[in-house]
Amino acid sequence: MTKYGVIVGSTRKNSYSLGVAEALVAGLPEDAEVTYLDIAKLPLYNQDYDENSPVEYTEFRDAVKAQDAFIMVTPEHNRSVPAALKNALDVASRPWGQSVWAGKAVLPASQSISNIAGVVAHHVLRNSLDFLDMKIMHQPELFIGNTAELADENGKITNEDTKAFLANVAGQFAEFAKN
Ligand SMILES: Cc1cc2nc3c(=O)[nH]c(=O)nc-3n(C[C@H](O)[C@H](O)[C@H](O)COP(=O)(O)O)c2cc1C
Repeated sequence: MTKYGVIVGSTRKNSYSLGVAEALVAGLPEDAEVTYLDIAKLPLYNQDYDENSPVEYTEFRDAVKAQDAFIMVTPEHNRSVPAALKNALDVASRPWGQSVWAGKAVLPASQSISNIAGVVAHHVLRNSLDFLDMKIMHQPELFIGNTAELADENGKITNEDTKAFLANVAGQFAEFAKN
């Protein structure tokens, strides 16, 4: 049984990124243990906290450590990832030498309400995941464009082809994460 952590780059209620993450989770094997990790309440990373970390940091690092694999879905903010997502990556990468990301499988995905599908944010995210020595599933690349046309007003993906595509990729990721 594989433990999957889900990290959504948007902290918005009715987030389309959350909708994409849920559509991916729907394609994981039945025995998957899935935990959505909350990144919204993490204080902004400050290296001074390495000495005496806030409880939110230690809880988040422990939660990351407990997972075998991650699904990460990001929107694009000003041609990058949202600050909350970068902050979460930074928090669990420190103190130096104690990063809890290394070796974990990860499926990165981006979405945007535009037709460029968050491609820049996706690659900014991959850059950090690569440096953090995570095991990235490189193909297929998940770029979901025009998301507002594929989802309802609550952010849930309603387009049947998109749901089937995402579920299929999640199945591939489950195999990838095992090895
Ligand atoms: C601060 C901000 C910056 C944005 N910058 C971009 C951008 O660079 N590229 C893009 O495609 N969409 C951009 N958008 C629109 C996002 O694609 C859209 O808000 C996002 O898909 C919503 O995702 P969510 O529903 O998960 O919050 C931006 C939105 C915000 C709020």
